[in-house]
Amino acid sequence: MDLGFKGRNILITGGTSGIGLATADLFAGEQARVGIIGRSAERMDSALKVLRTAHPEAKIVGSVGDVAAEDSLQQAVDAIVAELGGIDHAVNSAGIAGTLGDPVDQVPADEFLEVQRVNVLGAFLSVKLTLPLLKKGVNPSYTLIGSDSGFVTAPGMLAYNASKGALAQLTRALSVELHEPHGIRVNSVCPSIVDTPMARDGMGVESFSGVDYPVSTPQDIGWLVLTLASPKSRAVNGVSLLADYGYHARSSFPA
Ligand SMILES: NC(=O)c1ccc[n+]([C@@H]2O[C@H](COP(=O)([O-])OP(=O)(O)OC[C@H]3O[C@@H](n4cnc5c(N)ncnc54)[C@H](OP(=O)(O)O)[C@@H]3O)[C@@H](O)[C@H]2O)c1
Repeated sequence: MDLGFKGRNILITGGTSGIGLATADLFAGEQARVGIIGRSAERMDSALKVLRTAHPEAKIVGSVGDVAAEDSLQQAVDAIVAELGGIDHAVNSAGIAGTLGDPVDQVPADEFLEVQRVNVLGAFLSVKLTLPLLKKGVNPSYTLIGSDSGFVTAPGMLAYNASKGALAQLTRALSVELHEPHGIRVNSVCPSIVDTPMARDGMGVESFSGVDYPVSTPQDIGWLVLTLASPKSRAVNGVSLLADYGYHARSSFPA
């Protein structure tokens, strides 16, 4: 099936690792032109190598920048747009988990703020700074990577929960503000655990093999991003799509 991305320009923050990298790979496989942003120059080099080896015919570019610092992100966006010429779809996958496991009275305020800075301010700036480009895009859309942690919680995840809860409402607010005047759709994908460096670090494991809970691959989530961004999903706007194997739907009823 043609998802409608051939020749389209895609910008992915957090495209150097995990879900963002898998999403970049899937878009390139659909013959899109892809620009990725991440903070580490080393991870950028290795991500570009992986993507260009897998898709030798595709236009794939990268620029180092911090999504939570307006000047740095603007520079990175400008560098990508200088190469691609525009942006039709933007994906914000950049995010951090912060320190996990601490109860509320032991979470330092600066650590709480840092998670909001990257996950919430970063998503806001990613939309704000690319908006002039998406307004000129073809069937434009934003897809934010939220989390089931915006809807359900476990002890010791306060800062992350707060940040992903904010993204659910940012998605709704942007979808209302941008669709009617500009034809831009805004949705988010909200996975439970995905096997990425962030999740392995956060859970303190080397691998998820043999665990007794469901774990998605980055490709599982990338596919959902492409599904929402595709013009074939033109009726879908303002949705936070939970990808959690239905855990959020469970009753406490002992059946
Ligand atoms: N893995 C999970 O279980 C899971 C579940 C639900 C939601 N998510 C969400 O999925 C998204 C991607 O996470 P992942 O699991 O793929 O993690 P990951 O493998 O650690 O990738 C995170 C990406 O974000 C980039 N990044 C982080 N802070 C940044 C900043 N300030 N500016 C620019 N780039 C930045 C990283 O680049 P650098 O390494 O260069 O900083 C990296 O490319 C996050 O928003 C996360 O909250 C993950």
